[in-house]
Amino acid sequence: MHNVTLIPGDGIGPEVTGATRDVVLASGAAVRFEEVLAGQRAEREAGAPLPAAVFDSIARTRLALKGPTQTPFGGDYRIHIERKDAEGRLETRSYPSIAIALRKELGLYVNVRPVRNYPGVPSRYDRVDLLIFRENSEDLYVGMERMIDEGTAEAIKIISLRATERVARFAFDYMRRLGRHKLTIGHKANVMKMTDGLFLKTAQDLAKEYPEIEVNQRVVDALCMELVMKPEEFDALLLPNLYGDIVSDLAAGLVGGLGLAPGANIGADCAMFEAVHGTAPDIAGKDRANPMATILSAVMLLRYVGEAAAGDRIEKALAEVLREKRFVTPDLGGDAGTRRMTEAIVEKLQ
Ligand code: NAI
Repeated sequence: MHNVTLIPGDGIGPEVTGATRDVVLASGAAVRFEEVLAGQRAEREAGAPLPAAVFDSIARTRLALKGPTQTPFGGDYRIHIERKDAEGRLETRSYPSIAIALRKELGLYVNVRPVRNYPGVPSRYDRVDLLIFRENSEDLYVGMERMIDEGTAEAIKIISLRATERVARFAFDYMRRLGRHKLTIGHKANVMKMTDGLFLKTAQDLAKEYPEIEVNQRVVDALCMELVMKPEEFDALLLPNLYGDIVSDLAAGLVGGLGLAPGANIGADCAMFEAVHGTAPDIAGKDRANPMATILSAVMLLRYVGEAAAGDRIEKALAEVLREKRFVTPDLGGDAGTRRMTEAIVEKLQ
């Protein structure tokens, strides 16, 4: 039995993670969920947006399924984490958001985001099948920002050889296992010569160990243009943290929207699965959210723990519901609610 920490999150989080839990349990997978709160409800009920109970649970399970958590725009909002260092001294670390705090504290160094067309889902393109690898631990997301004076702010961008090599090796090994053949490195090394230059060179150097994978590179702005013009020509993308975040939302738009894009944050001995999308405050609590991205994140989780058969069953049930188009959410061109779409998937699994 695999124990999985379930973090419902904010906004549409409880709706889409609740739907996912029902679907996973109906699939017969040997999974047990342990629910813990993070986000606004945790702040209200436990006095902290990311309570120690979350880390205690993940320390036991080494696996999490997370709903999105809300982060205010601007201001000095920070997530503070108190942890013991190697010598047992209490140390406080702070991060710009709950998602970043979890990824950093748990050592989840790569974010894998597959984006592809699904039959029955309306979209502008029909041959998209992209695998995005986003570096998950550094770049401008280290949260080192400060006001220099009232009218000037600065942020520090960190790119290291060690973190780049780690994410690039993960990407090459993952592609080798899946038989994917072409990797495009996205960067801005023409302007950020040292940071993005190091990212590009490190990934290119490592590519020599994987001769069967064709490697090319694009400046990230040109990459965005080409992705919109001819997305079917790309196979896999490797990107530093910030570009990876932006390009994966763009890629989700190519196949029908944010409701479709799943994700996996993976580290050496722990993994956390979450959709690309956020808390969608405009539709939260209205039974309109598409649960598909979180369900597909759970399918990635099932494959990760060796429950591939259950993952395949869920993907097949979901594909049938999408093809039939009777019970799909408004973003997929239907008029069903989150709950009805979930029931339709569960019915197919029975
Ligand atoms: P968002 O992804 O929440 O929403 C963007 C648009 O996509 C909205 O129109 C929304 O209705 C739609 N959308 C998103 N997910 C959908 C779904 N499952 N079904 C149907 N439509 C969906 O992005 P936004 O508005 O920029 O962020 C809202 C909040 O979410 C912010 O506080 C942000 O910090 C947070 N966020 C959290 C993430 C995480 O915890 N991993 C990731 C991204 C954003």
